[in-house]
Amino acid sequence: MTTHPQVIDGLGATPSIGSPRTRVEGEDKVSGKARYAGDVQVERLAHGAVVTATVARGRISGIDDRATLASPGVIGVIDHRNALRLNKETGSPFFGPDGQLQLLQDDRVSHGGQPVALVVAETPEQARAGAELLRVSCVEEPHDIAFGPNHQAVRPALTAFGPDADKGDLEAELAASAVVVDERYMTPAQHACAMEPHTATVWQEGVVLRAIDSNQAPYGVAATLATLFGKPLPEVRVQCEQVGGGFGSKTGVGPQLILATMAAVLLDRPVRVALTREEVFLTTSARPRTDQRVRLGADAGGRLRAIGHEATFEISGKAEFIENCVEIAKTLYAADAIRTRLSVVPLDILPVASVRAPGTAPGSFALESAMDELAERLEMDPLELRRRNEPETGPVSGLPFTSRRFQLCLTEGARRFGWAGRDHRPRRTRQGRLLVGTGMAGTSFLTTAFPSSATITAEPDGTFTVAIAAIDIGTGARTALRAIAADALGVGWDSVHLKIGDSAIGPAWQSGGSLGTTSWGWAIVAAARDLLARLESGPALPVSVTSDTTEEIMSRPHRERHSYSAVFAEVTVDPATGEVRVRRLVGRFAVGRVVNPLMVRSQLTGGMVMGLSIALQEEIVHDEASGRHVNADFADYHFAANADVPFIDADFVDDHEPDDPLGLKGPGEIGTVAVAAAIANAVWHATGKRQRELPIRLDRVI
Ligand code: MOS
Repeated sequence: MTTHPQVIDGLGATPSIGSPRTRVEGEDKVSGKARYAGDVQVERLAHGAVVTATVARGRISGIDDRATLASPGVIGVIDHRNALRLNKETGSPFFGPDGQLQLLQDDRVSHGGQPVALVVAETPEQARAGAELLRVSCVEEPHDIAFGPNHQAVRPALTAFGPDADKGDLEAELAASAVVVDERYMTPAQHACAMEPHTATVWQEGVVLRAIDSNQAPYGVAATLATLFGKPLPEVRVQCEQVGGGFGSKTGVGPQLILATMAAVLLDRPVRVALTREEVFLTTSARPRTDQRVRLGADAGGRLRAIGHEATFEISGKAEFIENCVEIAKTLYAADAIRTRLSVVPLDILPVASVRAPGTAPGSFALESAMDELAERLEMDPLELRRRNEPETGPVSGLPFTSRRFQLCLTEGARRFGWAGRDHRPRRTRQGRLLVGTGMAGTSFLTTAFPSSATITAEPDGTFTVAIAAIDIGTGARTALRAIAADALGVGWDSVHLKIGDSAIGPAWQSGGSLGTTSWGWAIVAAARDLLARLESGPALPVSVTSDTTEEIMSRPHRERHSYSAVFAEVTVDPATGEVRVRRLVGRFAVGRVVNPLMVRSQLTGGMVMGLSIALQEEIVHDEASGRHVNADFADYHFAANADVPFIDADFVDDHEPDDPLGLKGPGEIGTVAVAAAIANAVWHATGKRQRELPIRLDRVI
């Protein structure tokens, strides 16, 4: 466990950070008291049911709503003919045009499952019944959902994460290498699969638009919603008390919120839109399919001369996105030449977006599988191969690392797993009829903090009220921030009241990119510091201070800041059926200082379960004719259930991020990342057959 006794900036050592506390809302959750976006009671609430397109591409030629409007309880139908016109200038600077927000704006259908109408009624059942009666006619046009890197529409991806790497001469280093790997790896589309379906409850209160919405970013969502509907930000307020998971799919303004807002304004009624599970699959973010070529060249001793990583992924023609598969190729290993390329193929699909460790999850599967193949060809321990390529500075950037603990993760993981003495040749171990194999993989994961603001009030009774537009999507953020605030103020846990989940509090980063706690924690530290300085003059209470971290964060030096992991897997394979069972997973993580070891261990364990799911089960299957997902529910979209989850040992190594005031890095997503490669490598070790395409299905094993 990580223990750094000093607390930030001489604010006084208090025990909240580092204590293994259970989450503060835990009792509310297990007793049913916790309120989610669909639980909020509002007077005169109407309910919307979404109608989705059944063609992949085309034009709406007619909508017959007579039966719908005559149906009991139906209040109205909203479609492209009467919908509010939305502002088109909402493009986020990061991902470019975000056409997925432009719902019901014209007669175009650009993907199967696209929302084409909302039926609003007095009850959810009446809305659904009315939606079933709506007749939407479409003129179908030829569509293209076939993904591949040789697609004629392939073009470079946006470069918001930095330019392609072009260090040294890749071809020359490959030619001079004693051993070369040149392989192609493919990963499927995957869905975020948050347990709580996306739900929004929207009403007008005077000029203010009020929304209770399940999202990962109350402030960001409010800002985008205001822009979309042409309102000043102070007239939009987005709140979310509890959110039942996001996994990337709730980082932006979801269709539920846009449709509920339109209906609330047009019908002048409070309106709730709760997506069905199928609609969640059809209308909210999916991870794109990827096709990746990895080329590695090494000398006979296993020193890397060349790393080439070229990734292509699908996007919608309507919206940009960056599935940054090649980031770890720029940071994880030293090599004389490093070349990365990132390309996109625009298709007639649901706009893709962030899902559980975007880019790094599929990217690490490719790179870390290729590293295992290189070790095989070198007849070398794959762990030793990783030891021999540890960089001194950023392999492409040349910048210093802040805290690089990759080797420590490898060492501690290997010891816990019992890696020493492994026979590195494949298909050597049988137990009964089962083949047994082990494998490992590692990763780095970008970490930083984004500007946020926090307000802290010193109350007359000696307690402190900490307000920040953070959000707890089930990660335990509320519990972590309370500990951070207590330590920053130098008081006990019980003296802190925390207010989160409300856009009106002020600008704050989202629960995303594994950067919630680092970003919010920094703002709380800054506000506590400023407030304590104010209190020195003994002012009358209450006293409030608001602090913003933009300047502090932007003035940090340019350095390589990453979390690290090493993951070890043991699998059995039934050679008759191809069934893979994971027996053991061990993960060691360098995620900076750990605010709450109980919750961080849980988060990393959960991440590893998702990694297992990605390795063996998860895959969106499209219907070629309609473009819609075939498996748009939790029965047909498989992911790990309890019976699939083996012994998992997730723990952290000693780490502390020097460029963060609290020493934090952020454990949100890294748990998911290296698992698929570790399992694929273990399946090769068991069977002798490489798995270069996910998921590792029975038919790919035999
Ligand atoms: Mo995340 S997939 O950055 O919410």
